[in-house]
Amino acid sequence: MAVTERPEDEVLVMFDGHAVRARRGVSLLQAWLQAGLPLTENVGCMGQGVCGACRVLVRRDGERLAGTALACETTAQEGMQVAFIDHFPARRPHSYDLHALVDTWGAIDQIDTVFPEARHCRHCGGCDRACPKGIEVQRMVNLAASGQADAAAALFDHCVLCNLCVAACPEHIDPAHLGQFVRRMNASLTLRPSDLIARLREIEAGAQVIDADAPGANPPAPAPGIATEAVR
Ligand code: SF4
Ligand code: SF4
Ligand code: FES
Repeated sequence: MAVTERPEDEVLVMFDGHAVRARRGVSLLQAWLQAGLPLTENVGCMGQGVCGACRVLVRRDGERLAGTALACETTAQEGMQVAFIDHFPARRPHSYDLHALVDTWGAIDQIDTVFPEARHCRHCGGCDRACPKGIEVQRMVNLAASGQADAAAALFDHCVLCNLCVAACPEHIDPAHLGQFVRRMNASLTLRPSDLIARLREIEAGAQVIDADAPGANPPAPAPGIATEAVR
């Protein structure tokens, strides 16, 4: 087969069957967008790695297996084969009432009731391999199943709810949703910072005047023809 010469600064990536030429160094999401291909889903934060929407399956040149990744955080490389993964919900809804949880004594019972599958983790590591954020998902599941909600919640701080661990779990534990549950549980049972409460009370009492038009309250309007910068 004839080998096509490619400029040094260019890579060829296969996206869902489309051959896309991209500048070396751009992300998979940038490569897709710069090719002018339509993107109606699989993108939310436009490349900041926080929305979890740009799930992809990626097989690198010379590798046998495909892995999961976020398209906005993965650099396009020559010969990559990429497929976007559509949004998919949890296999079943997980209903719970955080107001019913009045102290930590009931935490482990709540976890058992809402996520009974968590005790059946088979320690296969599938969720860890699927996670594009490098979260110790299996450990979080095992901590939650043993009632250590605060330690489990701390492990899930950087979860972007891409749900890739949900797809990977053979026991249908839905780790992403369990992680969200223990984080909510932790927050609902934790004392809010006193300065936050004091400030909210001041606002409620009208002592804290909020002037939305005060100088500096709004970002300056961009000059004509200049793209708006992200708020830092
Ligand atoms: S823990 Fe699950 S949902 Fe959260 S970022 Fe990792 S794979 Fe995505
Ligand atoms: S994929 Fe499911 S069964 Fe496997 S380690 Fe993760 S939570 Fe446990
Ligand atoms: S576009 Fe939001 S995480 Fe990639």
